[in-house]
Amino acid sequence: MIDFNPVSKASAPGKIILFGEHAVVYGRPAIAAPVSQIRASASVVYSSSNLCFLVAPDLNRLDRLQDLPEDNPLARAVWLVVKAANLWEPPGVTIRVHSQIPIASGMGSGAAITAAIIRALAKHLQREDLQSNEMVSALTYEVEKIYHGTPSGIDNTVVAYEQPIYFVRQSPKNRIEPFTVAAPLRFVVADTGVRSSTKVAVGNVRRQYNEQPAKFAKIFDECGRIAQEARQAIEAGDVAKVGQLMTENHAWLQKMTVSSPELDKLVDTALQAGALGAKLSGAGRGGNMLALVADEEMETNVTTALQNAGAKNILTTILT
Ligand code: MEV
Repeated sequence: MIDFNPVSKASAPGKIILFGEHAVVYGRPAIAAPVSQIRASASVVYSSSNLCFLVAPDLNRLDRLQDLPEDNPLARAVWLVVKAANLWEPPGVTIRVHSQIPIASGMGSGAAITAAIIRALAKHLQREDLQSNEMVSALTYEVEKIYHGTPSGIDNTVVAYEQPIYFVRQSPKNRIEPFTVAAPLRFVVADTGVRSSTKVAVGNVRRQYNEQPAKFAKIFDECGRIAQEARQAIEAGDVAKVGQLMTENHAWLQKMTVSSPELDKLVDTALQAGALGAKLSGAGRGGNMLALVADEEMETNVTTALQNAGAKNILTTILT
């Protein structure tokens, strides 16, 4: 008889894409970092009923696992662990999820909720092997397919490993490289308040790439080059260069048609307020933008300007 943990908890961070979103789907390098102060969490509580329940108070939902459709992301996360653990049926537990990460804003809320469920359930089952970063990332990737269609794998990787990564999608194994941040990078993250579906944005870029392959391949190449140069600048502690490259990356994302008037307005506002660089972050068409600031004074100026320009949920995250 296996001794299950009565209560198992786990959490996973939000994320930002510093460089290379979308191009990363096409094998170009990209850089992402966790945002550890906003998190998704899951708790798994043993129940003697033999039934598995999923509770999401934020979404006002309480469902029996078996009643949820195949493509429900939370249910898929649970079934993947059940399968990976070679169980005949789901355990009798109540899984409660909560997230501080705004949904559909480019901060990886879906990936973080999934990773938290997988880790908490693996803990409950006392399966160390299913709790490794590599395994949590691989299982989260399977669920990301529901959210994204053709995910690159960067979101599940950064939330599962919870460290800044340089990422290249490639087979048979993605290139996942942690790197040194020689001088701290202070980012102001601001939300347009416009919700945007990653699946729709990624699908739309795919359609345009199919229609104009040469034009889009060139755009992806430039984004990949920028990500490579940015890694060097981050490792060299050249903060000003990192900022310039962010603004350059934003221009290519505009050409990719994934920016929006709201994102452009916040990027321009941040630059006018003195930011070293600014860009959208994530799938675009809404969601979040990032501004790189040199110090607290610049942070205050940029934050105030963004607030006045209508940004929501502004936060600062420092990469060290
Ligand atoms: C979304 O956070 C990043 C995208 O590049 C999609 C992906 O990499 O799967 C837009």
